[in-house]
Amino acid sequence: MSLKDQINTGQLPKHIAIIMDGNGRWAKQHGQHRVFGHKNGVTAVRESAEAAAELGVSYLTLYAFSTENWNRPKIEVNALMQLLLQTINNEISTLNKNNIRLNAIGDLDSLPAINRKHLMKAIEETKHNDRMTLTLALSYSSRWEIVQAVKKLADKIVKGECTPEMVDAQCIEGLLNTGGMPDPELLIRTSGEFRISNFMLWQIAYSELYFTNTLWPDFRKEDLYAAIVDYQHRERRFGKTSEQINIVKDQK
Ligand code: IPE
Ligand code: IPE
Ligand code: MG
Repeated sequence: MSLKDQINTGQLPKHIAIIMDGNGRWAKQHGQHRVFGHKNGVTAVRESAEAAAELGVSYLTLYAFSTENWNRPKIEVNALMQLLLQTINNEISTLNKNNIRLNAIGDLDSLPAINRKHLMKAIEETKHNDRMTLTLALSYSSRWEIVQAVKKLADKIVKGECTPEMVDAQCIEGLLNTGGMPDPELLIRTSGEFRISNFMLWQIAYSELYFTNTLWPDFRKEDLYAAIVDYQHRERRFGKTSEQINIVKDQK
């Protein structure tokens, strides 16, 4: 049976998040500059978005550029920004054809003005699409996001719109960039690194983590299917015992 056929479409994660890593190493393996790896990573973005949408996943979130990535050599940062701009403009028609809405999270004000302008245009032009939301995390880091949320909360309290007693998890969730989105049930990281690198720390509290050695530019639909099949074999207990989970299953 093919990997795709092994997927139970009734039990799909609603939200998949991916830390797209390994472009630089992929380029090195091909005797090329790091930027060559980033360029080839675009195919993997297209494949994973298409595969997720075709299966019926509602949200796909891709970590494309972290707050910390600004510290890379200027030449690489510039190339990444240029590639981002090109990709956004090239992909709008495909996004519309596939009924995919584009969204972005992160410190978007820190992006070059031209990138921001075209990003906002793409978001606007795809806003009525409702098959899947593709979120790009750009100049994103979880600690930055949490700091922003705390500032917004403090402001609300100062203005009397909220009291400390009213603060709960739901209230904090609403103040994060991902407000309104379900938490990812599945988080994938490519390239064999076993870390989170400041990505969605709040939202992944109960996500299933899947690590693969595949370098991002080599990631294809089959790799996404493999991650989903693996996810569907996990028992998600949310603090309960296995017996409790199975009693509920048996009653269904
Ligand atoms: C991921 O690939 C892309 C970004 C972080 C922008 P890397 O550029 O981190 O590739 P490696 O980890 O150096 O191989
Ligand atoms: C994480 O990859 C950020 C993105 C994928 C955008 P990095 O390559 O920047 O992470 P570290 O530095 O290895 O932790
Ligand atoms: Mg990396």
